[in-house]
Amino acid sequence: MRSLAVFSVKGGVGKSALAVNLAHAAATLSARRTLLWDLDTQGAATYTLRLSPLEDRSARKGIAEAELSPLIQSSDFAGLDVLAADKSLRHLEKQLADDEKTKRLRKLIKSLDKDYDRVILDCPPGLTELATQIFRAVDLLVVPMLPSPLSERAYDQLLEHLARHHKGSTPAVLPVFTMVDRRKALHRDTIAAHPERLCIPYAAAIEAMAATRTPVLTRAAATPAARALAALWTAVERVLTQQE
Ligand SMILES: Nc1ncnc2c1ncn2[C@@H]1O[C@H](COP(=O)(O)OP(=O)(O)O)[C@@H](O)[C@H]1O
Ligand SMILES: [Mg+2]
Repeated sequence: MRSLAVFSVKGGVGKSALAVNLAHAAATLSARRTLLWDLDTQGAATYTLRLSPLEDRSARKGIAEAELSPLIQSSDFAGLDVLAADKSLRHLEKQLADDEKTKRLRKLIKSLDKDYDRVILDCPPGLTELATQIFRAVDLLVVPMLPSPLSERAYDQLLEHLARHHKGSTPAVLPVFTMVDRRKALHRDTIAAHPERLCIPYAAAIEAMAATRTPVLTRAAATPAARALAALWTAVERVLTQQE
C-alpha cells in the first residue's frame, strides 16, 4: 500500500477537487483498491462523492482513538471507498497533540495496508499538528498551487519546513499548478519558470463538481481538464510504483 496527501498551507487552491479526482483515477484508471480519507471538517471531498458521515457514531471517539474499519463507506465507484469527514475531526488536533500520539496517523494508515493499494488524504490547510503527522505518515505529498509568486513563496516555505523538521524521512513532493488560466500573463510567466510542473486548467467541469457531485473523468473524459487530471494521476502513480 502507498499513501499520498493532497496538501497545501493555503485553502481554496483545489486540494479537495484534486483529491477526489486522483482517488477516482486510482480506482478506475489503475484498478487500485483505493481509500479516500477526508480529513477536512468542511467535508468537501465527502460531499462531492455523495456521502455523508455515518449516522451511528455516538460511540465514536474520533479517529485518534477509534478503529477505522467500521467508519469506512463504499462510494458509487467500484474500488473506491471513503472515510468521511465528521464532527469528531474538530477535536483531532487536540487529540493528536497528546505526547503518546505523535505517530497515531502513521499507525492508522499502516493499519489499512491489507485492504487498500492506495490511500489518499484530503487535508485541511495549515502547518498544524495534523500536518506534521501527515508528513510522517505518507509516501507522497501532492501540492496544488495557483501560478503566482505568492504561491511559489508558500511552496518554498513548505519545502524549508520539511527539510528542517522532517530530516531523513520526508515524503516525496509533487507540486502542481491548479486553476491555470493561460490568458493571464502572471500565470504564463510563473508556469514558464517551471516547465516541468503539471498544470490543471481552470475548468468549468471541475468547478461544477460541487453541483454534479461526480468526478470529472467520468463525465468529461475528453476535455482538457480530464486529460490533465489523468496525466497527473499517471505522474503520481509513477512516483508511488517506483517507491514500491
Ligand atoms: N481547476 C479548477 N477549475 C475551476 N475551479 C476549480 C478548480 N479546482 C478547484 N476549483 C473550485 O475552487 C474552489 C476551491 O476548490 P477546493 O478543491 O475546494 O479547494 P481546497 O480544498 O484547497 O480548499 C471550489 O469551488 C472548486 O470547485
Ligand atoms: Mg478542501
